[in-house]
Amino acid sequence: MSNVVIVGAQWGDEGKGKVVDLFTSWADVVVRFQGGANAGHTLVVGGVKTVLHLVPAGILHAGKKCFIGNGVVVDPEALMDEIDFLKSRGLLTDPHQLIVSENANVILPYHKRIDAGREKSRGKDAIGTTGRGIGPCYEDKIARRGIRVRDLAKPRSLREKLSARLPEANAQIESLGGQTCDLEGLVEQALKQGERMQPYVGDASEKLAREVEHGRAVLFEGAQGTLLDVDHGTYPYVTSSNTVAGNASVGAGIGPTVINSVIGITKAYTTRVGNGPLPTELHDEMGEQLRRVGAEFGATTGRPRRCGWLDALVLRYAARVNGLSGLAMTKLDVLTGIDKIMVAVAYKLMDGRTVSEFPSDPELLAEAQPVYEELPGWKEPLGDLREYTELPANAQHYVERVEQLVGVETIAVSVGPDRAQTIVRKNPFRHV
Ligand code: IMP
Repeated sequence: MSNVVIVGAQWGDEGKGKVVDLFTSWADVVVRFQGGANAGHTLVVGGVKTVLHLVPAGILHAGKKCFIGNGVVVDPEALMDEIDFLKSRGLLTDPHQLIVSENANVILPYHKRIDAGREKSRGKDAIGTTGRGIGPCYEDKIARRGIRVRDLAKPRSLREKLSARLPEANAQIESLGGQTCDLEGLVEQALKQGERMQPYVGDASEKLAREVEHGRAVLFEGAQGTLLDVDHGTYPYVTSSNTVAGNASVGAGIGPTVINSVIGITKAYTTRVGNGPLPTELHDEMGEQLRRVGAEFGATTGRPRRCGWLDALVLRYAARVNGLSGLAMTKLDVLTGIDKIMVAVAYKLMDGRTVSEFPSDPELLAEAQPVYEELPGWKEPLGDLREYTELPANAQHYVERVEQLVGVETIAVSVGPDRAQTIVRKNPFRHV
């Protein structure tokens, strides 16, 4: 059996949740390794819509184990809401189905208040964060003053750690015009949440190692996307974690040698929420059409997503920094009815150069003008198709041209939101 990492190859929202949900049928274990409740997976199973922010989408499959690794920042309130929801639907009946790393850092109310206050104070330079406290929590982790899941079960040391952290956090909140946090209230709430989380908390790294030892197939589920990676993304308009495949190992507490393949998820076009460069963004009727037909509104914040044509430079870059072994293309059906479909194959830069590699300099990227290749569209709806060869010739041509431009094969194509609306060309767990 092999172990597979799934990452977003663009700016997040590529439809990873759906692909993970589908690939979970071949896996025994699903692991989240970074990010937090800023992620949002919208899943439609048997016509019922579900949004999960923290718990791996794999939980919707009976008998699969789900892990929330040390690299995730856990909001106990959001986690418990999801656990309650899943329990009420009969989807989480045994606590052994979900293991939350005791070393994961915890998002507390002051992180959210700092996040919100900072964004407000940045005005037009705001990052456009999800407001979930992600950045401030990762800052505390790196500054070695974070609160970890394990701390929520230790009243004395929790109070000590929070007494040390809170004065500075409160001073910051005050300077940003927000409402400060009260130590006792915070301790009491955190302990209560810790107690409720307790059945799910454990040594995730050790338990995952046992699963691997027993030959169980593991799916590592990335959140956000490559271009939102804190090192490799469009900095500073990024999230605060490493979203690339290499972090699957660090954020799950398992060596990189257990990973056999990496699948990048891409939409058939491009979207982004929040601010920052998006070279192929469309500000016209076509952009509106993609948003409307693709229902491009954030699963976490409800914000309308910025939409544009597919960008082969972005995908080639994602292939490089993740070491992609395959691509899964989602929402191909959204392009139905478009006469001429564009794909960016190069950028014209403000220094006069035309480049075919994604520039790492954010200033060059901000002004980059895409050079498009035009591909013929198709008129047939794709939602009912289940075989690759049933796709209209121009749709197949589109997929294959993208493969050629990126240099990576497409192992799955999604033609609608339901789990069944996916054409699988290769099972990544069988390709070591
Ligand atoms: P943060 O992760 O809330 O700090 O937000 C930082 C940037 O990442 C913002 O541009 C967000 O819109 C973006 N972001 C965070 N999570 C997601 C996601 O799951 N999908 C798409 N964009 C995201």
